[in-house]
Amino acid sequence: MINVRWGRGQCPCVPDVVTAMQMMYDVNRVRKDFPILARQVYGKPLVYLDNGATTQKPRCVVEAMVDEYYNVNANVHRGVHFLSQQATDLHEASRESVRKFINARSVNEIIFTRGTTESINLLAFSFGESMVKEGDEIVVSAMEHHSNIVPWQMMCARKGAVLKVIPMTDDGELQIDEYVKLLNEKTRLVCCTHVSNVLGTVNPVKEVVRIAHEQGVPVLVDGAQSTPHFAVDMQDLDCDFFAFSGHKMYGPTGIGVLYGKEEWLDKLPPYQGGGEMIKNVSFEQTTYNELPYKFEAGTPDYIASHALATAIDYVTALGMDNIFRHEQELTRYAMDCMKEIEGMRIFGPVEGHDAVISFQVGDIHHLDMGTLLDRLGIAVRTGHHCAEPLMRRLGIEGTVRASFGLYNTREEVDVLVEGIKRVAQMF
Ligand code: ALA
Repeated sequence: MINVRWGRGQCPCVPDVVTAMQMMYDVNRVRKDFPILARQVYGKPLVYLDNGATTQKPRCVVEAMVDEYYNVNANVHRGVHFLSQQATDLHEASRESVRKFINARSVNEIIFTRGTTESINLLAFSFGESMVKEGDEIVVSAMEHHSNIVPWQMMCARKGAVLKVIPMTDDGELQIDEYVKLLNEKTRLVCCTHVSNVLGTVNPVKEVVRIAHEQGVPVLVDGAQSTPHFAVDMQDLDCDFFAFSGHKMYGPTGIGVLYGKEEWLDKLPPYQGGGEMIKNVSFEQTTYNELPYKFEAGTPDYIASHALATAIDYVTALGMDNIFRHEQELTRYAMDCMKEIEGMRIFGPVEGHDAVISFQVGDIHHLDMGTLLDRLGIAVRTGHHCAEPLMRRLGIEGTVRASFGLYNTREEVDVLVEGIKRVAQMF
């Protein structure tokens, strides 16, 4: 029987970690919280370097889900009975955890979704329906993930609007001077990733927001690749919308968040109909619920929201600054070692890489490199990384991508570097 925990900040894994953290970031202690890291693949210790795609889960996150299913499970916001109220309390406490984690002003600004992609689709529909007309323009950047391109293309097609693209330099940095020139009286929204999932570029989103706001244009920031790596602060960034996923930050799959400033969310129409988003329904007319429920049709994934909040407790206890420092040191170490490999080409900015390294070695196909590294127990991602326009801009088909998480070690970087050298020798 697993011990049930009801309050926030009482993650079963956390007390030990906190003790360790008071002395230093003890990555070997942290690794023990992630059972999967003890696995072997092809008889080799797993070296998991595909954190940009999804992160592994600490025991406390999985146990939070099991606990709730075993001991609390009931639909939220619907029942007068004990379990329903307890499940509702957990779900709403999770919303408050998210609010605090990203420093939003109010829980009304926290919409639970299935993930970043659904958050952006929600906004594209809702914003598009109410704010965009024929001839209007939506600005995206050259390094967006498909999830921050395609929903806008679909909306532009529906509304007769036009997609504009902020160009980037060969090193993968946004050309801010060109961005400024793109903005005009037809611009309705700017959509920009916080961190590139391919290049590791950390975009100056605060500046992007400031420039857009000077023209009265709101900004959506895609935070899928920033929230796992460093602290984000909605009031400091001042963006109007921000989207992120639970599973990329040690939480479960199937849950994500759309943050929106209350003044914007108040103005926008609902995305889906049914369940939670209504106040009153008649065949003649339906009135909608208040924020944040107006955007949450149907039974929410209250088990996942609770587990996401547990992941937030976990990373908060480790300290986002400690995680950032650890991953930065690791990334710098990896870059220094990898640069020494003959034929190595690393994509993205020379300085200020987030914990993502995309590379090619000589003319070895990325798929060959990824497949052979896998046989050595090293999990990396290969291909276009859901960023085909970016690949086209770089003139390549794909890369190999190593992306680091809070549990990766220097020893694992050494295994990666040796693995790359071994593969290179085979060609
Ligand atoms: N967006 C995820 C990645 O970059 C899947 O790998």
